[in-house]
Amino acid sequence: MKKLLFLLFITNSCFAAEPSPERQTELRNLLKNDCGACHGLSLQGGLGSSLQPQDLAQKSDDFLIETITNGRKGTAMPPWKPFLTHDEITWLVHLLRHPN
Ligand code: HEC
Repeated sequence: MKKLLFLLFITNSCFAAEPSPERQTELRNLLKNDCGACHGLSLQGGLGSSLQPQDLAQKSDDFLIETITNGRKGTAMPPWKPFLTHDEITWLVHLLRHPN
């Protein structure tokens, strides 16, 4: 039991609670279908700006997480707080930076 708690602690400090594999599949689908509806099928930009790694490189994690969480007032970018947890949004930003 002690060992398990220790492992949990280590994992959390590295990856702020990664979503389960099932949830990761859902999030990838969300990114393609829902985010892609505005940001383009390959996130190259459309109604919404490009979300490709090179276009996000200069922007901080906090800034991108804030945008996805609360949306951007005065633009079409909606808030995702009702649907996604902070950890899931953090994971999505990581995925945008390192798509595979
Ligand atoms: C209804 C259209 C729409 C949908 C759906 C949408 N976005 Fe956006 N998003 C926008 C627009 C428009 C902007 C640009 C806002 C601006 O002009 O500052 C934006 C901006 C952003 C930015 C900031 C980019 C930057 O360079 O500053 C991020 C990150 C982002 N969206 C992620 C997402 C993610 C992740 C999803 C899906 C969970 C999503 N968006 C779904 C319209 C949308």
